[in-house]
Amino acid sequence: MRQLCRTHPEVAFCALASLFLAVLVILVWNSSIELNYSFVTTSLLFFQMSSDSFDQKKQNVPVNRNKSLKEENSWKGDRKLRRVEESLATARSLIKEASKNTNCTADIKDVGFAPQGGIYRNACLFYRSYLLMENLFKIFVYEEGEPPLFHNGPCKYIFSTEGLFFSLMETNTHFRTYDPDEAQVYFLPFSVVEIRTYLYDQRTKDKGGLKRSVVDYVRMISNKYPYWNRSLGADHFMLSCHNWAPWVTWYVPELFHNSIRVLCNANTSERFKPEKDASFPEIHLQTGQVTGLTGGLLAANRTILAFFAGQAHGKIRPALFEHWKEKDKDVLVYEKLPEGVDYNEMMKKSKFCICPSGHEVASPRVVEAIYVECVPVLISQHYIIPFSDVLNWDSFSIQVSLSDLPNLKKILMAITQDEYLRMKERVKQVQQHFVINDPPKRFDVFHMILHSIWLRRLNVQLDNESQ
Ligand SMILES: *[C@@H]1O[C@H](CO)[C@@H](O)[C@H](O)[C@H]1NC(C)=O
Ligand SMILES: *[C@@H]1O[C@H](CO)[C@@H](O)[C@H](O)[C@H]1NC(C)=O
Ligand SMILES: *[C@@H]1O[C@H](CO)[C@@H](O)[C@H](O)[C@H]1NC(C)=O
Ligand SMILES: *[C@@H]1O[C@H](CO)[C@@H](O)[C@H](O)[C@H]1NC(C)=O
Ligand SMILES: *[C@@H]1O[C@H](CO)[C@@H](O)[C@H](O)[C@H]1NC(C)=O
Repeated sequence: MRQLCRTHPEVAFCALASLFLAVLVILVWNSSIELNYSFVTTSLLFFQMSSDSFDQKKQNVPVNRNKSLKEENSWKGDRKLRRVEESLATARSLIKEASKNTNCTADIKDVGFAPQGGIYRNACLFYRSYLLMENLFKIFVYEEGEPPLFHNGPCKYIFSTEGLFFSLMETNTHFRTYDPDEAQVYFLPFSVVEIRTYLYDQRTKDKGGLKRSVVDYVRMISNKYPYWNRSLGADHFMLSCHNWAPWVTWYVPELFHNSIRVLCNANTSERFKPEKDASFPEIHLQTGQVTGLTGGLLAANRTILAFFAGQAHGKIRPALFEHWKEKDKDVLVYEKLPEGVDYNEMMKKSKFCICPSGHEVASPRVVEAIYVECVPVLISQHYIIPFSDVLNWDSFSIQVSLSDLPNLKKILMAITQDEYLRMKERVKQVQQHFVINDPPKRFDVFHMILHSIWLRRLNVQLDNESQ
């Protein structure tokens, strides 16, 4: 079994980092330009693909591009931008068309794609959108910046999906383009986890290094290329699994307000906006290996009703412990597992796996549960669950509110055996969207992340002429 991430020698790091930072010119960041793109698809994609809540959160962004700004920003690649926007406009109308279709069974030829499984909000729409993404989506990865802070991320432990994405994106040949004029989105390949590891001073709590890396990087690419200024960052994306990522993006206001931020820590109370930002899953890779993670017992062999083991951090877990910690024979909740009891075995033997938020909204338990076909019980607040723009989470998971914690057992006992079996079957169907493959396979977690970005990009229109 091979490991997915390359490792970078850290010896060269100090020299490289100081060189990189020294080379960057420090200018006063100019954020006086008004945001002038429009969200075109709030009325179409999110309306159809997502829950009503997206619609309610619709942003009030000026609908028409400001002519004077446009002239000011006019640049030689405008015709190329128009071509890009025209292809996106075509994609939008084809997806809209597909959304009217309620039975696309006959159209779907993909092995392994189960459109009638009830796990999608609208399977026909998702399928069409996915195929269009495969045909059209092109991503430009800025080559500037050196590992380990850039083009690199952790591939082990709790933040591993950050490193996995970097690794798979950098080596991708289908979606990655080296012609920036052909791209629909631009990837800013800085790793919040790595920058924090190397430049955050634990003793002084000085966050200056974090700020400089991100601010200088965006400044550099906006000086060197026309693309950032053209869209004020709206067609750029960053990705991070770290709980600091939401406020790290705040260092560059356009990055925070305009860019697509792909975050594990998708907390709407920290101004995560689902119509522009995308939630992606946290996957705890113990060894860095991505194989052998799935599997679980047959329904009949699952002797435990519900299971959780983990520390008491955050707000929700103490409440869970208050009601359930080592108090019930069916709902098994531990802060510390008893001697000789194996965490993974417990997950595999349970019908329901409790996934409460900790000190961040995302929990790796959600994917762990899906991997072992255990129905996830989500307990969180202000959390946008990964891929909830296309997946119908209600069909394969249970959501319990904080105030309903005392009724947890009652809620789970009220689910009939038939309904449980259906949910378990759907958990198995949805697994393909969460597994990591190397190289990636269609519809897997890497492609689902790309699809989330694709949808956000469809939501933004940069050129008014190509409707
Ligand atoms: C466009 O911007 C200019 C200068 O910022 C402003 O004077 C003008 O009113 C704006 N036009 C529209 C239609 O918003
Ligand atoms: C969908 O269409 C297929 C073939 O066209 C048909 O076999 C199937 O019964 C239809 N399903 C529904 C729910 O109408
Ligand atoms: C982008 O805007 C910044 C700030 O206004 C400016 O310094 C930079 O030169 C612009 N970049 C390009 C490529 O024109
Ligand atoms: C699962 O249950 C069946 C009987 O229902 C039993 O024969 C089998 O050994 C069990 N498998 C495991 C792994 O416990
Ligand atoms: C979500 O964000 C709010 C506001 O910053 C914070 O109070 C809350 O603790 C966050 N939730 C989690 C689980 O981190």
